[in-house]
Amino acid sequence: MDRSTEIELIEELLGLHAQKAPFLDEQWTREPLERYSSPEIFAREREHIAATLPQIAAHSSALPAPDSYVTTEIAGRSILLTRDREGSAHAFLNVCRHRGATLVRGQKGCQLRFSCPYHGWTYSNTGDLVGVPHQKTGFPDLDRAALGLVAVPCQEYAGWIWLSLDTNCDIDIKAHLGALAGDMLAMRADEHQIFASDVRDINANWKILVEGGLEAYHFRVAHADSIAGLFPDNLSSYRCYGRHIRSILPRNTINSQADMPQDQWRIRDHANILYSLFPGSQFLVQSDHFIWIRGIPLGPDRTRLELTTLVPTTQNTEARRDYWRKNHEFTLLTLDEDFQFAEEIQSGLASGANAHLNFGRFEGALARFNRYVDDAIA
Ligand code: FES
Ligand SMILES: [Fe+2]
Repeated sequence: MDRSTEIELIEELLGLHAQKAPFLDEQWTREPLERYSSPEIFAREREHIAATLPQIAAHSSALPAPDSYVTTEIAGRSILLTRDREGSAHAFLNVCRHRGATLVRGQKGCQLRFSCPYHGWTYSNTGDLVGVPHQKTGFPDLDRAALGLVAVPCQEYAGWIWLSLDTNCDIDIKAHLGALAGDMLAMRADEHQIFASDVRDINANWKILVEGGLEAYHFRVAHADSIAGLFPDNLSSYRCYGRHIRSILPRNTINSQADMPQDQWRIRDHANILYSLFPGSQFLVQSDHFIWIRGIPLGPDRTRLELTTLVPTTQNTEARRDYWRKNHEFTLLTLDEDFQFAEEIQSGLASGANAHLNFGRFEGALARFNRYVDDAIA
C-alpha cells in the first residue's frame, strides 16, 4: 500500500481504539443458509467463479527452472503448469488429445516432453503435439497442429502464476487486481521462498472459510488459547477494491504508534493485514513474513485449503529455521481453531436451528464478500 494509505489506516485504528469503538457498517445483515449448502449454487459458483475468474495457481518458485513443471487442480480440472526453455510460464488442461487420459500423473519435476501413459502421444512443454505412435497407419491425415494441449490463459505477475480457465478471455492480472496491484507488488513474493506448506481438507463450504478471516469479533473467544491476548477485542477495519478486500487486524501494540513520529509508523509491525483476493486466495501479511491461504472448493460442503508460509529469501537460513517453523506451526494451530468452527457451522446448517446466519455491523466485510459472490454468479 502507498505511504498515505498506511498512515490513514493507522490513524483510523488509533481513533477507533481511543474511542473503544469498532469499525461499523450501516446495518447488520442476514444470509440464507442455502448459499452454504445448495449443490445448485455451488455449481453456479464453479461455472462463473472458479472456472471463469483469474486466480493464483502457484507461487513462481513452483516452476524453479526452465523445463520444470507442476500439476494442480482448479474447478475440478487437472492443470499442467510448465516453464519453457526461455523461462516463460504456460498452463494447459492436463488431458491428452487422443482419448482424453490424464497426461501427467506426477506432481512436479523437470522435463521437456510429456508422453501420455495410455498410448504414448507426446507433447512438448509448450503444448505442441510432437509424437504419435503409428501415426501413418492409424491417423493418416492427422493435423498435429490442431491437437496440441489446450492452453489455459496464464500470466506470471508479482511473483505468482495466475490463470483463468476462461479460454476466451485475455488474462490481465494488473487490471484484475485494480487498485490492489501495488499492494501485491509491494508484498515482493518474488523475493520470498516457500518455507512450509500444509494441506487440509475441511468439511465446510469455501465461503464459510473465507468469512472466518474477515472479522476480529471472534478473536477474544474463539482464540482464547492462542492469539487473543495479542489483539484488542473486536477491532478491525476493511476496504474493498473491486471484489477484493483488504482487512486490517491491529495488534495491541498499535497504540505505541500514537507516541511516535508519523514518519516512523509501520503498519506491518502492529497489525495483521489480510488480503482476500476474490475468489480463492487470502494473504495474511505479518511483520516479517506472510501466509498464503488458497481455497479450492471441492463441493458445497467440502474445501481443500493449502496453507503456505513464505519467508524472505535472504532470511530463509539455517539460523532462522526454528523461528520460521514455530511461526508456521502457530499459524496452523490458530487456523485449526477457525476450521473447527467452520465444520461445526456446516454441520449445523441442516439442524433446523437457524433460517439465517447473522452478520453484525462489525462483520460488514462478510456481507460484502457474499454480495460479490452473488454478483459473480448472477
Ligand atoms: S489417451 Fe493419450 S495417447 Fe491415448
Ligand atoms: Fe480466526
